[in-house]
Amino acid sequence: MTKILMVCLGNICRSPLAEGILKSKLSSEFKVDSAGTANYHTGSQPDKRSIAVARKHGLDISNLRGRQFTIHDFDTFNFIYVMDESNYQNVINLARNQEDIDKVEMILNLVYPDKNYDVPDPYYGGNQGFENVYNMLDEACSKIADNLS
Ligand code: 4NP
Repeated sequence: MTKILMVCLGNICRSPLAEGILKSKLSSEFKVDSAGTANYHTGSQPDKRSIAVARKHGLDISNLRGRQFTIHDFDTFNFIYVMDESNYQNVINLARNQEDIDKVEMILNLVYPDKNYDVPDPYYGGNQGFENVYNMLDEACSKIADNLS
């Protein structure tokens, strides 16, 4: 089974959206999960604004709960997609070897190869930021799904 992990900082705004979007594009033969590099929101529901923008696009992510990324995730997952440069550094700092490092990719590089563009953190902004993030992640997840099938 191919397993894909989405990673952001808090695991309440960007990565739960990415998880919900990618799940909607793949069959149940794929495992999709998300995690945060920080532990502030362990056990929390996604941010209300992420739940709302997902719902607007027909997805229910309200049952997801935050958890922190751990070193064991390198063993579990085949692909680890991070939202921004800071997430990338935090995950790479835990990598044990080249195989771990090779699993990690900036998610927008699927759309803009090698550009290392960030999915901006929408936490301190308004609803439009969540809509923008949704659209970026939708495009990237379409590429991921195409590449896997
Ligand atoms: P996320 O957004 O990394 O997309 O889940 C954030 C959520 C919470 C915080 C920062 C970013 N925070 O500082 O609590």
